[in-house]
Amino acid sequence: MLPAHNSNAIGVCMETVLVTGAGGYIGTTLVPLLLEAGYAVRAVDRFFFGRELLPDHERLEIVRQDARLIDPELFAGIDHVIDLVAISNDPSGEEFSRETDQINHVSRVRTARLAREAGVKRYVLPSSCSLYGFQEPGVIADETTPTNPLTAYARANEMAEHGVLPLASDDFTVVVLRQATVYGYSPRMRFDLAINGMVFGAWKTGKLPLMRDGSQWRPMVHVRDTARAQIFMLSAPADRINGQIFNVGSDENNYQIGPLAQIVADTLPNDVAIEWYGDPDHRSYRVGFDKIEALGFKAELTAVDGVRDVLAALEDGRTDKTTQTITLAWYKELVTWHERIKELELNGGILRI
Ligand SMILES: NC(=O)c1ccc[n+]([C@@H]2O[C@H](COP(=O)([O-])OP(=O)(O)OC[C@H]3O[C@@H](n4cnc5c(N)ncnc54)[C@H](O)[C@@H]3O)[C@@H](O)[C@H]2O)c1
Repeated sequence: MLPAHNSNAIGVCMETVLVTGAGGYIGTTLVPLLLEAGYAVRAVDRFFFGRELLPDHERLEIVRQDARLIDPELFAGIDHVIDLVAISNDPSGEEFSRETDQINHVSRVRTARLAREAGVKRYVLPSSCSLYGFQEPGVIADETTPTNPLTAYARANEMAEHGVLPLASDDFTVVVLRQATVYGYSPRMRFDLAINGMVFGAWKTGKLPLMRDGSQWRPMVHVRDTARAQIFMLSAPADRINGQIFNVGSDENNYQIGPLAQIVADTLPNDVAIEWYGDPDHRSYRVGFDKIEALGFKAELTAVDGVRDVLAALEDGRTDKTTQTITLAWYKELVTWHERIKELELNGGILRI
């Protein structure tokens, strides 16, 4: 356990952040950045994608727990919570809809309540711009635009927002971050995200998969920028963020999918052909980021940076597209193994008993 009051080598009192879903795509980028910024971190996750994706560090404590049953004692000595845990995309949300509600909504509201009762100062809910769903052409969604969640995943995020925001008080700062679709390299890699998937296809086969019809708007944000936004909220003035929702991204990162594919193709060194797939995607939304920029946060990276860092990771073998880097495929595989092992296990093992 980390001590209740931590101090670093030069004796300055440091703050401790409990991060749920810390072993995920955003978490494995966020945790090293928090450590670099001088925080101590308690990382809570089932580590479905592997424990080894987080570094060993004297200020990092690893706790393998299910977020739905998180132990109230884990909030002792914690200053801030960043509640990343989720079944994290639309197809997984449809396949595991009950679990998506339990984890993304019910457990996060419970975590926020436990944090408040334990005297935690700030709670950050990483939500999603997918809450805006389809918007009329010309609409630029800001935080006051009526939401239009079209999937189980987006609905669970909205319910979580509704559950945590009323918990805000003078002593407990609650902030919701509606993140754009994330891209870029992270140790727990996801090739089920638009830009990352495009880069893989274009790099591996020279064919870039592109969902019809290419005119749909999608806000994007680099994984380092969204992690920076979460860290930014830990020290932003409480009276300007408490009980508030902020979109996370930037206008430069509002892309139409067709031109975005062209940017990806132009950034790759090899010849790339566009390959269309699917029915026309009705989820189209442009998002405004004035509110977070007025607070002083600016996203620094663009799609070209993300394409370059994913490409570098593919080239030097740090990542690959496997079942484990496609969220739904990995969860389905884990469930299948579990069933098979339950069926075959006898006397506590398979061969070695
Ligand atoms: N990646 C994006 O494009 C994006 C965009 C908008 C919002 N978000 C939100 O950001 C958050 C993190 O997304 P991500 O891309 O890092 O997802 P991810 O799937 O990579 O990470 C989720 C993590 O949660 C863990 N987990 C799942 N169920 C658990 C449980 N019951 N108990 C404990 N741990 C559990 C998994 O092991 C995994 O490490 C999610 O809330 C997601 O909705 C992500």
